Amino acid sequence: MKTQILKSSESLDIAGEIIRNGGLVAFPTETVYGLGASAYDSEAAKKIYRAKGRPSDNPLIVHVASKADIYNIADGVGDMAKTIIDNFMPGPITIILKKKECISDDVTGGLKTVAIRYPDHKIAQKLIIAAGVPIAAPSANLSGKPSPTKAEHVIDDMMGRIDAIIDGGDTLVGVESTIVDISDGKCNILRPGGISYEMIKELVPDVTIDKNILSSISKDEAPKCPGMKYKHYAPDAEVYVVEGEKDKVQDRIKSLISENRDKTVGVLFENDAVYDDAVEIYAGDTNKEYAHNLFSALREFDKLKADIVYAEITRDDEHLLAVKNRLYKAAGHKVIYV
Ligand code: TXA
Ligand code: MG
Repeated sequence: MKTQILKSSESLDIAGEIIRNGGLVAFPTETVYGLGASAYDSEAAKKIYRAKGRPSDNPLIVHVASKADIYNIADGVGDMAKTIIDNFMPGPITIILKKKECISDDVTGGLKTVAIRYPDHKIAQKLIIAAGVPIAAPSANLSGKPSPTKAEHVIDDMMGRIDAIIDGGDTLVGVESTIVDISDGKCNILRPGGISYEMIKELVPDVTIDKNILSSISKDEAPKCPGMKYKHYAPDAEVYVVEGEKDKVQDRIKSLISENRDKTVGVLFENDAVYDDAVEIYAGDTNKEYAHNLFSALREFDKLKADIVYAEITRDDEHLLAVKNRLYKAAGHKVIYV
């Protein structure tokens, strides 16, 4: 398949038509790039799973371009949902509600609920409007790889597999949206993201954080968010998280580097570039910046042929949970606490 790269805003009409006709278009959002198809088209949804190599029981998020559209695809939108919609949408948050018939079972992996997101990104919004249908879209990476935050990441993973890629530059948030399940009258965070637990708690005091956010899922457990049980964000390098006080983290990484002199070692650092004999990438001044840079850095380490990557975690703030959730998964939960 030939994949068109679309750059100008006039090309949104072309992209909208591709989606309406059952094709696949990758597009930027404020979180990460998405791989979109019509949410009303079962066959198009199946194409997404094939293009990504994604297991078909892992449901897709449906993207809309207005608050009114949420009511067209979800049932039982109560006061709590309304509070979240009115305060955080458009924005980096996804809500899970009971689905209406119009949303295909192939989009929701057979679930009776649907994940809905109203992205805060002009290109994403214009594309949904041009398509004239809600757009089902997972992140536009090959299954298991870090989510794409630049068009070049999508090109690396999806060239020849989809109809078109809209190049909208770098994404802002860098990690995927916060997912909250409000389908049963409670409010449970299934995935941390740009909208933090603290921000939600101000409006919904009873909000909870799912226990699986920082742990690995055992084989016989059915997670609330099917995506939790799959391998994620894994670069080719073996990733280890080194977590604790700054000085201890630096000392431990230095000794790990000297134990691995025969390998190419990468360090994703938060504080200072103090590591000789390692490829260093700066994570940023805050955890918000760490989230922005994380996936791009993991892909960069692959390009630099790192065999092992040590990622520092030494700072605590409201965005730490989103960073830890992604890094623990990238590391297959290999975390060294010092
Ligand atoms: O920021 C984002 O959310 C990006 C952009 C493109 O919007 N999308 C994204 O999609 O991250 P994806 O498919 O990579 O992750 C969606 C997650 C999966 O873990 C999936 O299992 C979960 O959402 N999910 C989708 N529908 C669900 C449902 N009805 N109930 C529970 N979890 C659901
Ligand atoms: Mg994904």
